[in-house]
Amino acid sequence: METIGRNSECWCGSGKKYKKCHYQFDEKLRELKQEGHLVPSHNMIKTPEQIEKIRESGKINIAVLDYVAEHIKAGVTTQQIDDWVYEQTTSRGAIPAPLNYEGFPKSVCTSINHEVCHGIPSEKVVLKEGDIINVDVSTIYHGYFSDSSRMFCIGEVSEEKKKLVQVTKECVELGLKQVKPWAFMGDMSDAVHQHALENGYTVVREIGGHGVGIEFHEDPYVSYVAQSGTGIVLAPGMMFTIEPMVNMGTDQIFVDDENGWTIYTEDGKPSAQWEIQVLVTEDGYEVLAY
Ligand code: MF3
Ligand code: CO
Repeated sequence: METIGRNSECWCGSGKKYKKCHYQFDEKLRELKQEGHLVPSHNMIKTPEQIEKIRESGKINIAVLDYVAEHIKAGVTTQQIDDWVYEQTTSRGAIPAPLNYEGFPKSVCTSINHEVCHGIPSEKVVLKEGDIINVDVSTIYHGYFSDSSRMFCIGEVSEEKKKLVQVTKECVELGLKQVKPWAFMGDMSDAVHQHALENGYTVVREIGGHGVGIEFHEDPYVSYVAQSGTGIVLAPGMMFTIEPMVNMGTDQIFVDDENGWTIYTEDGKPSAQWEIQVLVTEDGYEVLAY
């Protein structure tokens, strides 16, 4: 951490004097670091102006998912979902973040049943009664990023799949309750993990969440299998996703060797995921996209 004069302008861009702005914040982080904890760097702390812009991006992300929620049903192809997302995003003056991201060919990820994440929309994939699907939407608006995903049950779904979808949602909600200043990221991760384990499920280890807002994927990496009391310290202004992938069977996964993107469960059993974008505030959290 750099040393700034107490009367100089704060590093956060507020225009206030350092001693009246993030001075105590930095003192707190310095102490925690001394004690051996991992602490956020200044570039993980969003300014109020950035937060306001990201909030607007998040509103579009939510609206796009709301549109999907209203129209998704058996008989729809995942390509149609992609078309909706493209149309609903661009008509609001925004850009779908997945499109051409590291070569990703579509505007949204659609992951059905045993697909864990990064399913690629296709005209050949038709939703049918009994499917569960994750629709993962990410938006760039005036350069600011939002990212969230929801599960949808198509028609009548088996009790066991319904439960997986419900428990995964509860995992995110329980994790969210742990988000507050000066807690540890691991507190959130452990809450997610324990609830999944208590229900006989596993949580994917190799893929996690991420910082978000200025870029699509920023530091820190967010695990959902970490211990409480470990990991990076949470501080006001940090923003990241909670997006655990919960499997009904084994936590083992593999990548599609043809498209290089889609992740599947090794045992072919279903997987569910919900994703929210959360900001650490002075007294807890704010959800920017869900
Ligand atoms: N939306 C995914 C996430 O939650 C990232 C997808 S990358 C893509 O982080 F290229 F597949 F879109
Ligand atoms: Co994400």
